Amino acid sequence: MNDINDWIGLAREELTELNVDEVRQSGILPGGGKQFFPVIGYPPLTMFSEMDDTALFENFAQRPASKTIAYGHIPFCPSRCTFCHWITKTKTRTEEVDDYLDHLEQEMALYRSKMGMDAIPASSVLIGGGTPTYLSPPQMERFLAAFTRHFDLSDCTQFSIEAEPTTLLGKEGMEKLAIMKDYGVHRISLGVQSFDDPVLAAMGRTHNNADTLESIQQMRRAGIENIFIDLIYAYPGQTVEHWVKNILTAVNLDIEGYQLYRLRIRPHGDRDGNILKVHNSAPEKFPEPDDIQLMKYLGIMMSERHGYGEHQTRIFARKAEDISHYLRDWACDLADVTGVGVSSWSNLRGVFSMNVGDANLENYYQLVRQGKVSVNRGKIRTVDDERRRCFILPLKNARVSKALFTERTGETIEHCFGNTINGFKALDLIAEDDNHVWLTTRGRFFADEIATQFFDPDYLPFSDVTRIADTATG
Ligand SMILES: C[S@@+](CC[C@H](N)C(=O)[O-])C[C@H]1O[C@@H](n2cnc3c(N)ncnc32)[C@H](O)[C@@H]1O
Ligand code: SF4
Repeated sequence: MNDINDWIGLAREELTELNVDEVRQSGILPGGGKQFFPVIGYPPLTMFSEMDDTALFENFAQRPASKTIAYGHIPFCPSRCTFCHWITKTKTRTEEVDDYLDHLEQEMALYRSKMGMDAIPASSVLIGGGTPTYLSPPQMERFLAAFTRHFDLSDCTQFSIEAEPTTLLGKEGMEKLAIMKDYGVHRISLGVQSFDDPVLAAMGRTHNNADTLESIQQMRRAGIENIFIDLIYAYPGQTVEHWVKNILTAVNLDIEGYQLYRLRIRPHGDRDGNILKVHNSAPEKFPEPDDIQLMKYLGIMMSERHGYGEHQTRIFARKAEDISHYLRDWACDLADVTGVGVSSWSNLRGVFSMNVGDANLENYYQLVRQGKVSVNRGKIRTVDDERRRCFILPLKNARVSKALFTERTGETIEHCFGNTINGFKALDLIAEDDNHVWLTTRGRFFADEIATQFFDPDYLPFSDVTRIADTATG
């Protein structure tokens, strides 16, 4: 099937069969589907309060250990994208980047000594940002040398880095790729966002479509085996037809997979990106909920028909093994995280912490100079937080293992969430057998909305949703 209208017609038919309108009528979609809250962690960032690194390391050695994954944050970018809510610095001078790398190295050493380890074990790694590939070749070499010294990657199953197309072009791009490959990076997640040049310009991106295609060629030339790209849908001015063309381009690129992001207009906890202002001044430019729903469904349907399965919610790959192990370990194995760098977060033995998230890097540097890892917010999880986390994360992303839940919490899922699960089973949104609980095909379509139903009511980002009754969790 090649015709764009055929894909749209088929998606409409299948959506009717799925009867997603019934789900809308159940009242679980915030703003009737106009609002959206992506569930990334639990408790959400908005529930963190002031905290320093004492709470993170107090009695660290006595607290039960888990599998640990690692995150490193590089906050620099070629430009500031309209939709982005992250802390980033643009057009940064070499010396300023060097200064950041100095402090980042000190922070890694601080983590290591406070954890009492020669090297921090990591079973998977993500270097994100910002744009890690903004580093020059010598800076990349220096950063990766330090990172692989402070972290023990002997059991690491995947080393992944985020990139932006222009940073991988030309001779310098090839040099960086060769360095990354030397240090064991074998998966790159490329921020593509769109294959339409006018849309890219409106997003404030510095690359065009030709740059994207060339950067993918560069990665292949450098021998990077696992290439993923990020695409955004529901962008202002984007039509369903545009979106179908974008998906068709993605599935014909011969890459390992891609992640489809619905545009996040309200950040709920991070800094507000410019897209919020665009939305407040011209909401009519943004696609309506019906079209957003159709775009989401087209993403799933067209991917599957081209051999890209949805192995984790909104993450599509030809082979399940190629998806981000960092996200998989985090969501499905409920791994701990050691996160280093400005605005990164850690999850160590029952305590969540968030580093200083300030574009003024001096605030990050000051803490590091005082011999502290740069934590300024966090949450010591309660028993209730932990039960909800151990259910919400695997449910939203893949499926919940009843055995893992009991191992982690000492409770059964039935006892904690039986009533709510039954409510969702009646709506054909959740299914279960003796070993697992998972979202049905219809449920997967509303993964974030269903996951938030298992939040503590006080943690909810929206007040206008109907709650499917929850049993006592305590
Ligand atoms: C932190 S960015 C890193 C990628 C790299 N900096 C780049 O943009 O080329 C990871 C991805 O998050 C997605 N993203 C960022 N802001 C978003 C938003 N407001 N709504 C939806 N997705 C967003 C984008 O697809 C982006 O590629
Ligand atoms: S989307 Fe990526 S490149 Fe754009 S500002 Fe955010 S982190 Fe930087």
